[in-house]
Amino acid sequence: MTDAVPAPSPSAPSDSALMALPKAELHLHIEGTLEPDLVFELAGRNGVPLPYASVEELAAQYDFADLQSFLDLYYATMDVLRTKDDFAELTRRYLARAAEQGVRHVELFFDPQAHVARGVRLDDVVDGIGAALDEAERDLGITSGIILCFLRDESVESAEQILSAGLTRTDRIIGVGLDSAEVGYPPALFEAVYRRAREAGLRVVAHAGEEGPAGYVRDALDLLGAERIDHGIRSVEDDALVQRLAAERIALTVCPLSNLRLRAVPVLADHPLHELDDAGVAVTINSDDPAYFGGYVGDNFIAVRDALGLTAERAARYARNSIEASFASDGRKAELLQELEAWRG
Ligand code: ADE
Ligand code: ZN
Repeated sequence: MTDAVPAPSPSAPSDSALMALPKAELHLHIEGTLEPDLVFELAGRNGVPLPYASVEELAAQYDFADLQSFLDLYYATMDVLRTKDDFAELTRRYLARAAEQGVRHVELFFDPQAHVARGVRLDDVVDGIGAALDEAERDLGITSGIILCFLRDESVESAEQILSAGLTRTDRIIGVGLDSAEVGYPPALFEAVYRRAREAGLRVVAHAGEEGPAGYVRDALDLLGAERIDHGIRSVEDDALVQRLAAERIALTVCPLSNLRLRAVPVLADHPLHELDDAGVAVTINSDDPAYFGGYVGDNFIAVRDALGLTAERAARYARNSIEASFASDGRKAELLQELEAWRG
């Protein structure tokens, strides 16, 4: 336990250096980038009634006790997303902010079951997000991929159905993930769904060890074949698992501000990020649901520096991990690693 804020170090990068650090964002729910002002704009455009009188009143709800209390608001506010253009606008606004925060490649999650259940067509979601990603590649030089997440607190049959639908859109969808309420919904439930996704050639990742135990991380590796673990912070409770993650170069997509705001850690100074790095695990820094958790990816780097200390060397290692653990082509990875070398100067 650390109580004191680390003394400012002369080797700690400045805010602007951390924003400029070229990075890949590997853990980002596009629906979690829905800022309160856009909620009101889309509600007005689509005639969706909101139980809040103002943007400020909605923003005041962003105080969470745990993952479930966040998810309740997250699923409620996404009801304003109705059309292909809504998804394009949401994604466009995320990408503009991501560009300012040094994101050069993004693999973003979306939750199609939550949209299809409301009568929104999967093609409208994918085409809207995809249109904004194409614009960003052309105008901002950001490359990308889309990962379809199964909601683990929905039925396995529902996951099978959305996978079948998703397999018609492998022009855009590069992989599958697993999110939503974790405890009580172990990876084992989704073993067959994941097998089918892998056999279809999709990349596979899974949330595990956010609120759930280290055993879920092991199961995500052994039963689902996960290539990366989203969050994974509770792995620190199991030394053998930490050694395995390091030996097999399984990256963890860690989200410090999310962990703080959902009370997975009591204070950021207690976050196990550097401890995992020191043990040789390939950790990366990401924003998860930045509209809800008080910061985009560059803000997460700054918060880590302020609470835990962060040398330029460690910051560059986290960025390098993100590039190497991404599903970008080898050529793209080489380009980004070169940009990173230039940052290091
Ligand atoms: N869906 C959106 N954000 C999530 C998170 N942090 N954990 C699980 N499911 C999520
Ligand atoms: Zn997440």
